[in-house]
Amino acid sequence: MDSSRISLRPFKLSDVDDFMEWAGDDQVTRFLRWKTFASRDEASNFIKDVCIPHPWRRSICLDDHSIGFVSIFPASGDDRCRADLGYALAVKCWGQGIATIAVKMALASVFKDLPDVVRLQAKADVDNKASQRVLEKAGFLKEGMLRKYSFHKGQIRDLVLYSFLATDSFPN
Ligand SMILES: CC(C)(COP(=O)(O)OP(=O)(O)OC[C@H]1O[C@@H](n2cnc3c(N)ncnc32)[C@H](O)[C@@H]1OP(=O)(O)O)[C@@H](O)C(=O)NCCC(=O)NCCS
Repeated sequence: MDSSRISLRPFKLSDVDDFMEWAGDDQVTRFLRWKTFASRDEASNFIKDVCIPHPWRRSICLDDHSIGFVSIFPASGDDRCRADLGYALAVKCWGQGIATIAVKMALASVFKDLPDVVRLQAKADVDNKASQRVLEKAGFLKEGMLRKYSFHKGQIRDLVLYSFLATDSFPN
């Protein structure tokens, strides 16, 4: 993949049709807290009410078309030193290194954009090997297993915890 074709930018209402292509796919939402989007109206409201006002959510774009998202959600109050990372990509784009490029792009700007944040963390389902690999390739440290941590789509799941600190070396 030519990384110059990949960009991160805020969502726009006009992304709705591209958004539905991936957010309307059960394979993409399987490990996300999101439900699979069932209609264009639902997607449009979500872009307007959740994606656009979000503190740090970007559309992953291929030639400026939305093919996924990367989000960083900072904690508040005394926990504002940390933020949670999430991402997903259209199935047609899997396996080309795009999520890793997008996470590295997010790392390159997040500590400047959110200056209180010194720790970025991500929790990947124990069965989500592709996501764990993305985090490893992007330079995250595997900290351990959070056993029976979260109820997700009908089951209590084990999650693998990863972190990247503002002082960590940026991956090649
Ligand atoms: C996770 C996801 C974002 C990965 O996107 P991607 O662009 O395909 O990721 P990359 O190509 O950058 O890297 C994927 C890596 O996982 C590896 N991988 C994929 N499936 C795997 C599996 N079942 N077992 C082990 N490794 C696997 C790939 O080989 C690749 O590693 P490599 O470069 O060393 O060969 C994508 O699968 C997705 O959107 N999944 C659904 C949403 C999701 O799970 N989000 C994360 C929630 S924590």
